[in-house]
Amino acid sequence: MSDSKALPEFIEACRLADVPPGGSLKVDLAGTAVAIVRTAEGVFAIRDACSHADVLLSEGEVEGCTIECWLHGSQFDLRTGSPLTLPAVVAVPVYEVRLRGEGDATVVEVASSPTDFSPGSNAVTSQAATEEL
Ligand code: FES
Repeated sequence: MSDSKALPEFIEACRLADVPPGGSLKVDLAGTAVAIVRTAEGVFAIRDACSHADVLLSEGEVEGCTIECWLHGSQFDLRTGSPLTLPAVVAVPVYEVRLRGEGDATVVEVASSPTDFSPGSNAVTSQAATEEL
């Protein structure tokens, strides 16, 4: 019996050029709303719903490796989905991201399932894609 885990499948989400630097883009990923966020530290994917109320995170402010919910101001770490400030206390799912292609043709691909941070998982942060941002 093998203890290796299957690699997540990746789904094409958008072109990198469609995501503004320091901003985000709402995409539909097989029926799930996901915010693709482009920062100086990489490209991240986080479910596009605040865990405090059903508000789009893609409409919030991006600062460093965080996105701030526009309604009550909770900030979420884009690497883990964890809330850094109140009132939110529950993490938002994040997804591994990878970039494919070059230049204007670069495509953002997102894992089809969220990163597993449960005990026993070896995930530390959701991987950020970091090519030429
Ligand atoms: S709805 Fe996002 S912090 Fe309240």
